[in-house]
Amino acid sequence: MIVGHRGAAALAPENTLAGLNKAADSGIHWIEIDTQLTADGIPVIFHDETLERCTNGSGKLASHTLSELKQLDAGSWFDGAFAGEKIPTLEEALQTCLDKDLFMNLEIKIHHDVQVVPLVKKISDVLKSIDFPNERLLLSSFSKHAVEQCKTLLPDIRRGYITEEKSTEYLNEIEHLSLFSVHVNQEMLTSDMAKSITDKGYTLNIWTLNDPDKLNDFIQMKVDNVITDNPELF
Ligand code: G3P
Ligand code: MG
Repeated sequence: MIVGHRGAAALAPENTLAGLNKAADSGIHWIEIDTQLTADGIPVIFHDETLERCTNGSGKLASHTLSELKQLDAGSWFDGAFAGEKIPTLEEALQTCLDKDLFMNLEIKIHHDVQVVPLVKKISDVLKSIDFPNERLLLSSFSKHAVEQCKTLLPDIRRGYITEEKSTEYLNEIEHLSLFSVHVNQEMLTSDMAKSITDKGYTLNIWTLNDPDKLNDFIQMKVDNVITDNPELF
């Protein structure tokens, strides 16, 4: 399957509701987005540790409250047509996925100094409060600790481990996490690595592939899902 990276990052400002709408319009069924906590403990959808690249604000996202973040323009940096687009909350993104019949790969972003346990707890609270169907969700992270917390707090939701390691030694370290999938940087993936992962029974996802000419090579490696900035190319 084709999965829209950060919504559909080549078609709309990343990690916005406009991006989710673009992804749905392109005909795909899955999107990947990133989540982290505001200063007042609300999970929002945002990739970077700091606000400069994707908004007209500055400083660390985690130092701002939700009401401060909602003042920011998260669309103009991408294109004037998206002026006024806001940083969404996780709850708003989940609701948009329900409205647009999208499945969500939610990446739990663990930046410097971020405390894993409160973040996963808040995500869990949001998921439980809006009753999002488990089968429409995949929780993923570069952080084994975050994935472990997901297993504890949200045991019935599928989990994925994201990696850009060059060896597959980590496969021994993730066995206790009972994962559904492994998500590999496509630049690192070799046939041997892919075989080690799929032989263990994991679904194999790659990120971020924007060149459809390479798709067949990855299909040969039994890659299941391709995370891309531009679903329209595929
Ligand atoms: O989830 C895969 C991919 O999104 C990981 O990298 O930096 O784009 O969040 P990044
Ligand atoms: Mg991501």
